[in-house]
Amino acid sequence: METSAAGKIILLGEHAAVYGRPAIAVPVSALRAYAVITPNSSPLTISSVDLDNRTFDGRPNPLEKMRSLTLDYLRVSAAGGEIVIRSDIPIARGLGSGAAVSAALGRAIARLHGRVIPDDVLNRLVFEVERIHHGAPSGIDNTVVVYERPIYFVKDKMMDRLEIKRPLRILIADSGQASLTREAVAKVSRLYQRHPDSTWDILSTIGAIVEQARACLRAGDHRRLGELMTDNHRQLQRLQVSSARLDGLVEAALSAGALGAKLSGGGLGGNMIALVDESKGPAVREALIRCGAVDLVETVV
Ligand code: MEV
Repeated sequence: METSAAGKIILLGEHAAVYGRPAIAVPVSALRAYAVITPNSSPLTISSVDLDNRTFDGRPNPLEKMRSLTLDYLRVSAAGGEIVIRSDIPIARGLGSGAAVSAALGRAIARLHGRVIPDDVLNRLVFEVERIHHGAPSGIDNTVVVYERPIYFVKDKMMDRLEIKRPLRILIADSGQASLTREAVAKVSRLYQRHPDSTWDILSTIGAIVEQARACLRAGDHRRLGELMTDNHRQLQRLQVSSARLDGLVEAALSAGALGAKLSGGGLGGNMIALVDESKGPAVREALIRCGAVDLVETVV
């Protein structure tokens, strides 16, 4: 038996999402976290090749936290068995690896007990785990990962299905720099405390970009959408969450003919995304590799 959950990218609006501005995220179904379940008569064990050797600076192990939240919700004590987690989603790269692992694990524990967790409940439980590890998350990562569909999201207010008139072809390029969302969110928070007016201005500008982008997605206007993605990147630079490597990859993608490019997720490393049309895809791909991308994934949404 196996359960899984997808990774994600933030198309537009990261960081501003934490401050109640709208944001848009899409799942990356090709990158997944899996939980393989083997029922047996021994006490339940949960292991992960990727996570077990990591330290959590005194914070609870996320697998343990997800396990206890799920068992509490199911109102059962753990059945016997073994759950092994493996994931295709690179860790600490802004691709929702933590949320996907938690979602796959919650589903697996329920399955082991012959139950299914409704998505709205799973979303709440995964958010609890995200809070421990990300400080003050908006909730966008767990929401897109659990529902596995494109979303328009406003923290504490709404999650709407996103209308995409024409499929988007997106290249996801790994800068090779690990980065923790928690640190990027804390950095923006410090900037906001020091310079509230100018920071609020940037966050509001990002919110306005997201609203325009939503209209472009509805209309199938990829050219304008690409420009808005690049504008969003410029605002993220002003928020000081980009990096030299991310900026280099963005410029390389644009010079090779991408319709738009930006960092995606927390920034300070991690991944960038480029919107491409089919004819320019190979050139942009090549430019990103030449510029030092350590991994490239193409997704069509
Ligand atoms: C991380 O994928 C997106 C951020 O906006 C944080 C959040 O919204 O929780 C940086």
